[in-house]
Amino acid sequence: MKKFFLALLIAMVPVAGFAAGPTGPLMDPRVDPNDKASLQRGAKYFVNYCLGCHSAQYQRYNRLAADLDLPEDLVEQYLILTDAQIGDTMETAMDPVDAERWFGVAPPDLTLTTRLRGADWVYTYLNSFYVDPSKASGWNNTLFPDVAMPHVLWTLQGTPEPAYEEHNGEIAIAGIQVEEGSGLLNQAEYQAVTRDITNFMAYIAEPIKADRQSLGIKVIAFLLVFTILAYLLKKEYWKDVH
Ligand code: HEC
Repeated sequence: MKKFFLALLIAMVPVAGFAAGPTGPLMDPRVDPNDKASLQRGAKYFVNYCLGCHSAQYQRYNRLAADLDLPEDLVEQYLILTDAQIGDTMETAMDPVDAERWFGVAPPDLTLTTRLRGADWVYTYLNSFYVDPSKASGWNNTLFPDVAMPHVLWTLQGTPEPAYEEHNGEIAIAGIQVEEGSGLLNQAEYQAVTRDITNFMAYIAEPIKADRQSLGIKVIAFLLVFTILAYLLKKEYWKDVH
């Protein structure tokens, strides 16, 4: 019996998860599917700053309205900036052929990106752009070197400059610095915006996560109550046996 419990205990120890990803520390966006206010702000930033180039073709506007506690007429008024209907998916208005001509690569669909790359990767990516005059777009990214995407949030963040450091005789970028006042927001505010966008992208990658979590808690509560009942019942049955 002891052995059985030992085996059970060992089986319950979580196995360390392995995820392929870039080296170097990633920033943690503290994704929270229950933070509706953050998701609502994230949706607003996403349609304003991202949907012009990227689609989220597996996400419907009416599903978003229901999940984010937003009335459908408000979604139609403020979040649908294309000629889409409320039941449509979030398609970009940009023609993929044009996109490829302009950027050299078509902007990928973003519905599942946080599952593919991880939410921490997306968050870090949005905080890793820097000015690079040698690039066609004028921008580069420390996490995604030579990325074809321009720093679309630069009016908010300002102009991040690379900070160089010598390491074993080689000059490398050690980080980025943003001059206060070069953007509309300070750094903490900019990070909050990118957190909301990342949170929203994590939601569209897995819209039922919040439901699943609350259902999970109810199921566990039920099982606990059931265990107690079963135990009491067992005691009742065995009372007379001895
Ligand atoms: C002006 C067009 C444009 C806009 C606007 C834009 N992007 Fe991009 N984005 C691109 C292009 C082009 C790429 C492909 C880059 C490459 O592969 O080099 C890209 C790539 C990405 C990637 C990497 C995807 C991957 O898995 O490789 C992410 C994440 C991303 N964009 C997020 C965003 C977010 C979030 C916004 C809004 C804040 C946004 N983008 C706005 C053009 C754009």
